[in-house]
Amino acid sequence: CGIIGILGTQDASPLLIDALRRLEYRGYDSAGIATLHNGALDRRRAEGKLRNLEAVLRDEPLAGVAGIGHTRWATHGQPNVVNAHPHMSDRVALVHNGIIENFGDLRRELEGKGHTFTTETDTETIVMLLTDLLAAGVSPKDAMVMAMERLHGAFAIAVLIKGEEDLLLGARRGSPLAVGYGDGEMYLGSDAIAVGPLTPRIAYLEEGDIAVLTRQGAEIFNEKGEKVERRIQVTEVTGALIGKGNFRHFMEKEIYEQPAVIGETLGSLIDTVRRTTMLPPLPVDLAKIDRVTIVACGTSYYAGSVAKYWIESLVQIPVEVDIASEYRYRQGPVSPGGLALFISQSGETIDTLAAMRYVKSKGSATLALVNVPTSAMAREADGAMRTLAGPEIGVASTKAFTTQLAALACLAVGLAVAKGTIDNARASQITGALMEAPARCAELLARLDGDESFKKIVETISEARDVLYLGRGTSFPIAMEGALKLKEISYIHAEGYAAGEMKHGPIALIDEQVPVIAVAPSDHWFEKTASNLHEVAARRGHVIAITDKAGAAHLSGIARHIIELPDIDPLVAPLLYTLPAQLIAYHVAVRKGTDVDQPRNLAKSVVVE
Ligand code: G6P
Repeated sequence: CGIIGILGTQDASPLLIDALRRLEYRGYDSAGIATLHNGALDRRRAEGKLRNLEAVLRDEPLAGVAGIGHTRWATHGQPNVVNAHPHMSDRVALVHNGIIENFGDLRRELEGKGHTFTTETDTETIVMLLTDLLAAGVSPKDAMVMAMERLHGAFAIAVLIKGEEDLLLGARRGSPLAVGYGDGEMYLGSDAIAVGPLTPRIAYLEEGDIAVLTRQGAEIFNEKGEKVERRIQVTEVTGALIGKGNFRHFMEKEIYEQPAVIGETLGSLIDTVRRTTMLPPLPVDLAKIDRVTIVACGTSYYAGSVAKYWIESLVQIPVEVDIASEYRYRQGPVSPGGLALFISQSGETIDTLAAMRYVKSKGSATLALVNVPTSAMAREADGAMRTLAGPEIGVASTKAFTTQLAALACLAVGLAVAKGTIDNARASQITGALMEAPARCAELLARLDGDESFKKIVETISEARDVLYLGRGTSFPIAMEGALKLKEISYIHAEGYAAGEMKHGPIALIDEQVPVIAVAPSDHWFEKTASNLHEVAARRGHVIAITDKAGAAHLSGIARHIIELPDIDPLVAPLLYTLPAQLIAYHVAVRKGTDVDQPRNLAKSVVVE
């Protein structure tokens, strides 16, 4: 969910709506705002997208120069108006992001004291808890401190109080919250994208912090209620960076930005003259590490899965890759001689962050690879690497993924050089191949643009009920990423499978109705993948091959469609082979008329477990 709070001098509603538009990537099940006007609280809410809330506001405008807003990704309670934020009592209006784990117990206690609840949400419990404390004469700041002590879980909140025209309260634990410093105006927001265009001066709250804002500034307290200072930084995020340009969707724009942002990311990690890697300061001596653990969620997990192949083959040390929600609760061993790497576009995904904290608590070194440099993971990790993808707004990740691959390839090379498992000549050969990737990506995007045979493939896929993606080696995670993209935005069921494993199950699904997309560059796995495709063709499966010129010659007898890619070093192939998979998903979704940038039920930044 996304949060915004404004303590301003002009009408707050339009500013709140603007900020919510920037935050919609965090959820869009419902939205709402509340303002304080002549000391009184009032709110407007609507189910579904922000435009529904805008329509409500056109009929019933909301005055006031102080306000809070929320865009919701439902956890407790259905995404309807009653459950939409802000939640209110006769004294308090509040927006909330995250989960209150002990809300049942607190609710029973507060109901016992005579408070009446009107929703199914955990959020209303915080409202009532604060209302109860304020009614007992506790000051707003102390009420926040005392409420925080009672709440279990990971969350961020913003609060307005009746009669307090010059007061906006915020608190964070687990979910991000930033304070924006304007000129006689102050702001709270879930991230720099929310607050950035209002003011570039931002301080990030730390775990357990409580912020008490007036128009003159902010006082920040830690969870013990002691006053603390949080550094004010100037953010680079402005509104201009997150426009759609001439593209129909953010996702399309972000797909086409990939040559540029892969280039930027590589440029920050490779000395292009000497062709050596330039890694940022790392928390471990790379020469000494004996294993790597990679933890991430969603698309970032697939980037980590590609890195496993790269690191194991180049560096000859074991690499474990795991999904954060599994890793964090498994209580597995954390080896002191290893490097633990956490990959996340947002740097805020709660499962990945919790996994990182677990590793830290065991005394092992943590490295974060993030796209948002001011994120919790970047701040909390012992070392951080950046992808330079720029803001990614489309919920389905594209450019964040390929820039993660670019950065991970550099890390693998740097590690191999440090451990002496490859020599400088091989290293410069790989960095040279990487440096060619942006050009090959641009060439491919231009080639597929308007391509008739590609359109046919899109047509075939959009009529399918199930689609199978196959690959071996580094193409296996790319197959899984391709399937994920299709599922996410077109709602067609898809599975990514290791091509060699297909015969142990999914082959039973194959008939002429099921398109099978093979990610098959002519690398050292190619012959094996080709045999598996013969098995598909023999069962009249509909093979679509993503391959290169040599591969196309080999597969022309069995594949009904071929997407021919420019030749590229096999090691670097994952960067290029991702693009057709993204474009298939994108165009199928457009054909099906789904909401490409904000697919149903998903959210970009998942700060709940
Ligand atoms: C959400 C998004 C995915 C993303 C995943 C991990 O589920 O919908 O696209 O891959 O979170 O996000 P992160 O920011 O940690 O990379």
